[in-house]
Amino acid sequence: FSLKNYNSFGIEAKAKQFVAVHNLAELKAVLEQNKSQKKFILGGGSNMLLTKDIEALVIHIDLKGRKIIKENEDFVWVESQAGENWHEFVIWTIYKNFGGLENMSLIPGNVGTTPVQNIGAYGTEIKDTFDSCEAMTIENQKMKTFTKAECHFGYRESVFKNEAKDQYIITSVVFKLTKRNHKINTSYGDIAAELAKNNITNPSLKDVSNAVIAIRQSKLPDPKELGNSGSFFKNPILLKTDFEKIHQKFPEMKYYEVSETEVKVPAGWLIEQAGFKGKRFGNAGIHKNQALVLVNYGNATGQEILDVSKEIQETIFKTFGIHIEAEVNVI
Ligand code: EPU
Repeated sequence: FSLKNYNSFGIEAKAKQFVAVHNLAELKAVLEQNKSQKKFILGGGSNMLLTKDIEALVIHIDLKGRKIIKENEDFVWVESQAGENWHEFVIWTIYKNFGGLENMSLIPGNVGTTPVQNIGAYGTEIKDTFDSCEAMTIENQKMKTFTKAECHFGYRESVFKNEAKDQYIITSVVFKLTKRNHKINTSYGDIAAELAKNNITNPSLKDVSNAVIAIRQSKLPDPKELGNSGSFFKNPILLKTDFEKIHQKFPEMKYYEVSETEVKVPAGWLIEQAGFKGKRFGNAGIHKNQALVLVNYGNATGQEILDVSKEIQETIFKTFGIHIEAEVNVI
């Protein structure tokens, strides 16, 4: 079974077996009937790089539905099933005038995978509005609710990448959104600039969403046209003491304070300075408008993209003494 249409990099890789599940009963049955089989859980496929065929039963989580489960004057709790497309879900909340997700418009992928890496963009992260999620254990098909505290969210991090890795399938997620007094967040420079360009001084949720969509469309390639997985690397976080030594050598290096002892450096800047932006290596390359994004020009194998990423990592380490880590799951 070809997975080409199931990964946003558009890599040709095969699954030994493939099944899509549409409700909890189907998911439970598939897990029960394939206890001894190797299993691979597939959500939206927008954050992985397939470097080989999958010698396992691929279970595609296609649970659909969204609903309001609770509300008061100020807040609403909305639940989305894991297989809903993230951007369509965000647009629905904006249409309902529910605030909190607008800055994360147009992020590829499905709702169920958003907690895994605590997706974020333009000054907000999932953890800011996340209430809880439901998950099924792969081992014995029991349901478990994860509260926000139990998810241990960090920058592109959560319990699902660590202690709980490979044990659960997230089946639905609840977000707590505002019904009034929306916390419009235009602190990110690009958003402010985009709104100013359109003479918008008092932006609505929709205005912010539109600004984010315009920014993303100008910088980030559409996976339908050019295979990619968004940011390929994480922005490295360095101890201030280490950063200061590097910064003396490279005074133009951009950075953001993340805590009293740490700073984050934009990997896109490092990659661009190292001369990789817009470069092409055969079927793989580095996007011309955003150096953090690796692209598939059509027929790249996962290995070719992985090789380019290694070349970038090595050069960045040699040039700046900074190790950059992949954000996408390399399989
Ligand atoms: N930069 C460059 N050259 C580049 C790209 C960026 O010099 O080619 C510099 C920019 O000038 C800017 C800084 O790096 O000063 C930050 O750039 P940008 O605002 O484009 O954001 P980013 O740090 O590259 C992160 C997220 C994105 C998210 C944006 C906006 C990570 C790994 N990536 O990128 O998330 O959309 O911020 O909030 O944190 C993703 O995770 O897939 C993703 C796209």
